[in-house]
Amino acid sequence: MKLVHTVAELREEVAIAKSQGLSIGLVPTMGALHEGHASLIKAANQENDFVVVSVFVNPTQFGPNEDLDAYPRTLEADCKLAEKMGANVVFAPSPAEMYPSVDATWVEVTGDVTKVLCGRTRPIHFRGVTTVVTKLFNLAQPDRAYFGQKDAQQVEVLKRMVKDLFFNLQLRIMPIVREADGLAKSSRNTYLSAEEHTAALILSRSLQAAKEQYATGERDAAKICAAVTASIKSEPMANIDYVEIYGLPELTPVTNPMVGSNLLAVAVKFGTTRLIDNVVLEDK
Ligand code: PAF
Repeated sequence: MKLVHTVAELREEVAIAKSQGLSIGLVPTMGALHEGHASLIKAANQENDFVVVSVFVNPTQFGPNEDLDAYPRTLEADCKLAEKMGANVVFAPSPAEMYPSVDATWVEVTGDVTKVLCGRTRPIHFRGVTTVVTKLFNLAQPDRAYFGQKDAQQVEVLKRMVKDLFFNLQLRIMPIVREADGLAKSSRNTYLSAEEHTAALILSRSLQAAKEQYATGERDAAKICAAVTASIKSEPMANIDYVEIYGLPELTPVTNPMVGSNLLAVAVKFGTTRLIDNVVLEDK
């Protein structure tokens, strides 16, 4: 496996792979790789001949008071895991390499899909994500790109971008990977104290209960949200940002009664750490 840092080096690796007729799988990440990322790299390796993993803590998707500086940076361990899971290249550029101009060019998906849920408290976040992902798509020219369902809103935003900008690639969305205790894997879990980690288990428990409520016939979104909110509030360390349900795809307003596929998404702070989790409510 090769570690490269520049756009020129990545382009060269991609050109060689393309000249050999190899299919390319791209796994965009911000590093601090965990088993969730490992599952994406593994799938990319199974479905493509050549796998590029990008490791870049993208400054443009962090708000001014967010955790850009604190975000874990573990490139050496990331390379080991990426190699073990079958990556051919790790691309770890500097911010200056990815943003060479002072005045940036933005790629922005507009509409409710970027305004609701995380878009409300993180107004520039998705513009940063879509801009950097566009750059990565242009550089790696993947046949398939891999993202985790844990960032469910990001997935909907990227689907819109791929459709609207005619990117000639397939988005592959992989299921949420959880700790044995139920906590959804996240690079930000490392911020949690042992006490906060235990408190955060309320998220997966509440979402699981909502799934069961749905399975037994409940179709009133407000009732499901109220039950999840009450359950999370029973945990004194939890500070709710949102508990909401939107229609899929594209996070449309939920209907009453709920029909089709709907996303129940939560964002909750434990201490200074904001965690997100979600479940899709749909008939089997
Ligand atoms: O999901 C992430 O880790 C990031 O938002 C992504 C897609 C790598 C863009 O920086």
